[in-house]
Amino acid sequence: MEKENLNRDIIQIGNEKFVPMLNEEKIKTRIKELGEQISNDYMNKLPIFIGVLNGSFMFMSDLLKHVNIHCEIDFIKLSSYGDAKISSGNVRTLKELNADISERHIIIVEDIVDTGLSINYITEILNYHKPASVKYVSLLVKPASLKFDIKIDYIGFEIPNQFVIGYGLDYAQKYRNLTSIYALSE
Ligand code: IMP
Repeated sequence: MEKENLNRDIIQIGNEKFVPMLNEEKIKTRIKELGEQISNDYMNKLPIFIGVLNGSFMFMSDLLKHVNIHCEIDFIKLSSYGDAKISSGNVRTLKELNADISERHIIIVEDIVDTGLSINYITEILNYHKPASVKYVSLLVKPASLKFDIKIDYIGFEIPNQFVIGYGLDYAQKYRNLTSIYALSE
């Protein structure tokens, strides 16, 4: 079988071409800044970071390496885009939270906020449990795609309305293990 090195300049998937958008170095630098900012903001608050699976696994791991205060973690899993590049408009919970979040300071960790549907859905679930506070950190936000009135408190990068892969983000479940982020070239 021919060897395929995934981390390269251009990724060709069928007829579609993905080109570099954010390299590893840029991502690392920004995540360090976010981690330090969150650490300052949550000093003495023992926040719970809630990662939204699957996409946030890599970001959550790297972010927490730069959080230098005590914290806890948990994960929630929502139904994803499946194999599509466009949101179906429906969300379901596939894995619920284990932590008791009432009276706790919650930080939701997302890989990307596109329409905002997932964040909106999670907020409804969380508010039911009466947390002390809820904030959001997302590595990427596509401001032009937002359809809900939501505020992301900590943003890694704002990007154009393009489909992206890598660093946790998938295309039909693959390419999550790329160390950089690539965008579908128009
Ligand atoms: P939203 O609910 O429309 O904000 O979409 C959020 C979720 O959709 C993310 O957590 C991702 O799993 C997925 N998603 C949105 N945009 C992209 C993309 O460009 N590439 C890969 N996954 C995406």
